[in-house]
Amino acid sequence: MPLKILGLAAVLGWGIVSARKCENISVSVDIEARTADFDLETPVSSVDVTDFSLNLFRQGHNFTEEIVTSYRTTSGEYEIAATYCTPDAGPGHVVQLLTHGIGFDRSYWDLSLNDFNHSYVHEAVEHYGYSTLTWDRLGTAQSQHGEPVGEIQASLEVAALRALTTKLREGTLPCREADRFSTVVHGGHSFGSYHTYLLTAQDPTISDGIFLTSFSQNGSFTDVAGLGGNFVPANANPSFAFYRDGYLSYGNPSALQAALLAPGQFDTDMLKFAGTMTQPFTPGEMLTIGGETNTPNTYGGPVLIITGSKDMPFCGGDCLRTGLPVLSSIPESSSAFMANARPSRCFIVPEAGHALNLVRWLS
Ligand SMILES: *[C@@H]1O[C@H](CO)[C@@H](O)[C@H](O)[C@H]1NC(C)=O
Ligand SMILES: *[C@@H]1O[C@H](CO)[C@@H](O)[C@H](O)[C@H]1NC(C)=O
Ligand SMILES: *[C@@H]1O[C@H](CO)[C@@H](O)[C@H](O)[C@H]1NC(C)=O
Ligand SMILES: *[C@@H]1O[C@H](CO)[C@@H](O)[C@H](O)[C@H]1NC(C)=O
Repeated sequence: MPLKILGLAAVLGWGIVSARKCENISVSVDIEARTADFDLETPVSSVDVTDFSLNLFRQGHNFTEEIVTSYRTTSGEYEIAATYCTPDAGPGHVVQLLTHGIGFDRSYWDLSLNDFNHSYVHEAVEHYGYSTLTWDRLGTAQSQHGEPVGEIQASLEVAALRALTTKLREGTLPCREADRFSTVVHGGHSFGSYHTYLLTAQDPTISDGIFLTSFSQNGSFTDVAGLGGNFVPANANPSFAFYRDGYLSYGNPSALQAALLAPGQFDTDMLKFAGTMTQPFTPGEMLTIGGETNTPNTYGGPVLIITGSKDMPFCGGDCLRTGLPVLSSIPESSSAFMANARPSRCFIVPEAGHALNLVRWLS
C-alpha cells in the first residue's frame, strides 16, 4: 500500500498502524568504572539536602574538586531495566539507544500522556521504522539502585550504556528475539545527553550517530536552575519509599516546573503528569556531571543537538542570548568541543523549555 494511503488509514483510525512490539527486559551488565570518593556525609535530612545544594551551587567554587579525596575502580554485575521496541514489521535497520535525564526514568521517551501523543518512541518506531532501546539509568526506578554518593555516579552509568551498546551489536539482549544491529545511534535528554557525550568521548567509534537534546556545555546556568529544583530527601515521599537514604528529588510541583518547563509552553495536565512520573537522583550524579562535559571529544560521526530556546539549566532561559555576534546560540558552542563531528547540526526549538517531550503542541 502506498505510504500516503497508509497515512490516511491511520488518520481515519483503521487501526492498521497498531505497529509496534515492545518488551520490558532486565539486563545484567558486568561493568567497571573509575568512581570518586568524596568527603561528604550522605545527606539524609531536608536540612542536609539543602546544605548540599548550597555547597554544590556556590558561585566560583567547584564543590566536586573541594571534597574529592581519591578515586577507585567500582565494578560488578548490575541489573538494568529496559524496554526494547520494534516496528510490527520487524526490526529497524537502525536501533536508537535512548538515555533519560535527571528526574525522569525511561518512560520519558514514551510518554503515555494524551494517548501517547508526546511519545518519542511512538514517532521513531511507528512512523520512521527504527527500533529503540530505552533504559532506566543505574540507580533509577526499576534499575538496580546503589550507594548514592560514592557508587551511583556518571562514569558507572556510562559503563552501563557501553555494555548495552555491545549487547545490541552482538544481539545478546535477553529479548524474545535478540536482534543484532550493525548501526546503533545514541540519543539523550539532559544528563542522558551528557552520558552520550562522554560515551563517545571515551570511545569515538562506539556510535554511528548521536543526538543530544536539552543540552549545552555552558555550565553558567546550572546553579540557578539547580537551586530552583528545591531538592529534598526522596524517600520522605511515600512513592519513593523504596529508595534508600541519600537519594534526592524535586521538592514540589513548582520545583519541577522551574527545572523543566517554560512559561506558556505547557498545559497544566503536563505538569501534573510530570509530577506522577518524576524519579529521584543521587548526590553522586550531581557531583560528577561537570566532569563529563569538560571531557574533550574527538567523535567524528554525525551529531545533532536539539535544545529548547527557553531551556533554563543549559541556556539560563534564553539560548539565543550569547553575547557574541559570531555565536548564534549557546548550544552551538559545542561545535568547538566536537570539532571532528560530521555532519554537525544544532537546532533550537522556539519557545520550548528543558523537558522537550513535555512541550504543548503549537496551535
Ligand atoms: C513495561 O513496564 C511499564 C512500567 O512498569 C508498563 O507501563 C508497560 O506497560 C510495560 N510494557 C510492556 C510491553 O509490558
Ligand atoms: C497529537 O496532537 C496534535 C495536536 O492536536 C495532532 O496534530 C497530532 O496528530 C496528534 N498526534 C497523535 C500521534 O495522536
Ligand atoms: C570540577 O572538578 C572535577 C573534579 O576535579 C572536574 O572533573 C570537573 O571538570 C570540574 N568542573 C568544572 C566545571 O571545572
Ligand atoms: C555561557 O553563556 C553566557 C551567556 O551567553 C556567556 O556570557 C558565557 O561566557 C558562556 N560561558 C561559557 C563557558 O561559554
